[in-house]
Amino acid sequence: MSKNKTSGHKASSDAVRSEERVGRACVRYKCVLPNSIQSVLRQRPGWAEVKDDGEWDLNWCDVGWLRENYDHSYMEEHVRINHFRNHYELTRKNLMVKNLKRYKKLLEREVGPMEASRCSFFPCTFALPSEYHLFVEEFKRCPGSTWIMKPVAKSQGKGIFLFRKLKDIMDWKKDGGRSEEQKDSTQVENYVAQRYIENPYLINGRKFDLRVYVLVSSYAPLKAWLYRDGFARFSNTRFSLNSIDDKYMHLTNVAVQKTAPDYDPEKGCKWQMQQLRRYLTAKHGREAVETLFAEMDNIFVRSLQSVQKIIINDKRCFELYGYDILLDQDLKPWLIEVNASPSYTPSGQEDYEMKCRLLEDTLNVVDMEGRLTGKEKRVGGFDLMWNDGPVCREDANLETLASSCFTANTHLGCVNDRERQLRRLMKPLLCQKRM
Ligand SMILES: Nc1ncnc2c1ncn2[C@@H]1O[C@H](COP(=O)(O)OP(=O)(O)O)[C@@H](O)[C@H]1O
Ligand SMILES: [Mg+2]
Repeated sequence: MSKNKTSGHKASSDAVRSEERVGRACVRYKCVLPNSIQSVLRQRPGWAEVKDDGEWDLNWCDVGWLRENYDHSYMEEHVRINHFRNHYELTRKNLMVKNLKRYKKLLEREVGPMEASRCSFFPCTFALPSEYHLFVEEFKRCPGSTWIMKPVAKSQGKGIFLFRKLKDIMDWKKDGGRSEEQKDSTQVENYVAQRYIENPYLINGRKFDLRVYVLVSSYAPLKAWLYRDGFARFSNTRFSLNSIDDKYMHLTNVAVQKTAPDYDPEKGCKWQMQQLRRYLTAKHGREAVETLFAEMDNIFVRSLQSVQKIIINDKRCFELYGYDILLDQDLKPWLIEVNASPSYTPSGQEDYEMKCRLLEDTLNVVDMEGRLTGKEKRVGGFDLMWNDGPVCREDANLETLASSCFTANTHLGCVNDRERQLRRLMKPLLCQKRM
């Protein structure tokens, strides 16, 4: 890739190529991020790092780089980059809700209320300051309930607070919504005011949320993969609605919990997804848990569909999203947010290894080496969840097919025997190449 050249042939050649796979013996990569992603890229056979303005084939960039460079850069057909240009349509808190509301309305109009109700997985949310009056109306309709205020573009729990009185938000409004660092600026910070989930599912009295990884390799047609591993992030303090000012009780971000006075780095605050799935199955039975996980699949697919027509689909782009999902006491999953840059900073050895596996498999799906056929339903720990339509499980038996009971090709929190699968997947291809 080189900077500031024109990209005149971009659109036309995009149309020509779809699943064409050209392998590269040596892949030049650029990456400014530290930690697990660096070591995964460094250890990949035949891959070499380029620094500064060197030409690259894959760029694992941050969203800041994208904002500054994407529009002014010429990128060859074969290069790959880990974000879509306007990823923020899904990954900024206010825009995500705006797109979901619009999609829900569209379904209501074009399909019907039943279909639209399948999008009722996000808490009631208003964008502030623009929807302040609508918010106040809703606030007054449900006295005594708890709300949460969140800056739209921050992460790691920064700037978030809970409230029950309009007065608390009046004080915030007087400051123009500016945070401490922004006191002197004239710009108003955008927030969302969201209904607080007051009945989270608790384990040992503690609240947690789930981090799930979804890889989108194309938006047109939509092609999305669900990773088998993920984790639950627990809060350090027993949950109660009596003290709404305690962030260690209400915010499950690792970045928050790590700073709790009684945080124990040995114990950490995570459970792997498999452990959680086992726990829930023991407690509620298989059927209830399968329903819960199918509800989560519904969240992933619908949220992607809500932005499918808006995201600029460049064949060079892919995105590994980190979904934040909260369960309530009725085992209903709620979508809290979608992250474009989920943390790859490990919180321990187990976490480091999981993240390395995840990133390796992301590169396996992206397939710069050209080893895949493009028809795979599974690559390592990734299962193809949506391919311009629902994907049926490979092992779905004739009985289930005959009863037209659809078995989705997703295995979140199930065994991740990725190495065995990768060996089996790559073997015939290696044999072919040797011949
Ligand atoms: N509507 C909500 N109800 C209950 N808890 C919430 C809600 N929204 C956020 N939280 C809690 O706050 C944490 C941070 O919120 P999130 O929207 O993910 O912002 P951030 O970008 O700072 O991570 C979540 O992980 C969750 O524990
Ligand atoms: Mg979050």
